Amino acid sequence: MSFKVQPASPSTPNRCQLFAPGSRPAVFEKAAASAADVINLDLEDSVAPNDKPEARQLVIKGINEVDWRDKTLTVRINGLDTPFWYRDVVDVMEQAGERIDRIMIPKVGNAGDVYAVDALVSAIESAKGRAKKIAFEVIIETAAGVAHVEEIAASSPRLAAMSIGAADYAASMGMQTTGIGGTQANYYMLGDKTEDGAERPVHWPDPWHHPMVAIVAACRTHGVLPVDGPFGDFSDDDGYIAQARRAATLGFVGKWAIHPKQVALANQVFTPSEEQVTEAREILAAMEEAERTGQGAAVYKGRLVDLASVRQAKVIVAQMDLIAGAKG
Ligand code: COA
Ligand code: MG
Repeated sequence: MSFKVQPASPSTPNRCQLFAPGSRPAVFEKAAASAADVINLDLEDSVAPNDKPEARQLVIKGINEVDWRDKTLTVRINGLDTPFWYRDVVDVMEQAGERIDRIMIPKVGNAGDVYAVDALVSAIESAKGRAKKIAFEVIIETAAGVAHVEEIAASSPRLAAMSIGAADYAASMGMQTTGIGGTQANYYMLGDKTEDGAERPVHWPDPWHHPMVAIVAACRTHGVLPVDGPFGDFSDDDGYIAQARRAATLGFVGKWAIHPKQVALANQVFTPSEEQVTEAREILAAMEEAERTGQGAAVYKGRLVDLASVRQAKVIVAQMDLIAGAKG
């Protein structure tokens, strides 16, 4: 229990974050024309080490020259364990105009990592007289990131969003898998043996469940948007949708796309359906009616609804209002 009111997270649509390698400027215009709410220009793992300086310049040019419409525009810098990250921050902050909205910091392991980037960004903003304060987003994708997820969520008022990065997380944890997200063939439960020797049912639990729930709890505690990361097999739409639905059910507001065809899938899952919105509005109306007659609870379609149901219904209505408002 706590007397503190849970802080609101940034009121900006974040259903899909489409990634574009910084070294591939030919796709920048296409990303800007896509239906993704957020575009992440990448300087990290989709750019080879030798291409980093050139990619930086291409990203700066792209930020300055492409019409990014109503997108939230982010640059993913290199991790703090590399020699590249400070130059990413300095060059982007000094040479790109005010169109950039966020810097994404990968492989964050503790609040100090965010503090370090914050110090550098704050100094450049002040030295260059930048009017717009840059927001941050981080990726939780190491054992340390999961262990310190709460202090990371609380690390800076700049922090707007936090993503889970399944592939690096798996590597850091020493997991025996090469898949990026989704179920894993060897992570299964086998039903008990039966006397009649019937085939035992196989069930695939979600190996990403623990870090995902930890991220949502940390984000909701500190007013940060939780975002599900990449799903690598972009030929598997059903697998992507299943992963996205699990994430949405757990409280995530959106998911990455590593190929443009995944954008529509994310938007479909993270936009509340007409039925969900109608049901939420009906629950709110039922509770208003109950309150008018002095009741704290009501019956809706044969089930109990009370003040907790009102809070649940308001989440869905608020999501819809946000998306409708932002997209006109
Ligand atoms: N953003 C916008 N458009 C993209 C795009 C992206 N990330 N990736 C591909 N496209 C475009 C292609 O240019 C092509 O356009 P066209 O029809 O006008 O020729 C179209 O979408 C279809 O592309 P396709 O041929 O299927 O893919 P590809 O082989 O060119 O590229 C990837 C596949 C995975 C290499 C590419 O999508 C990519 O680089 N994704 C991002 C990777 C990344 O940033 N990873 C870091 C985060 S995990
Ligand atoms: Mg990663």
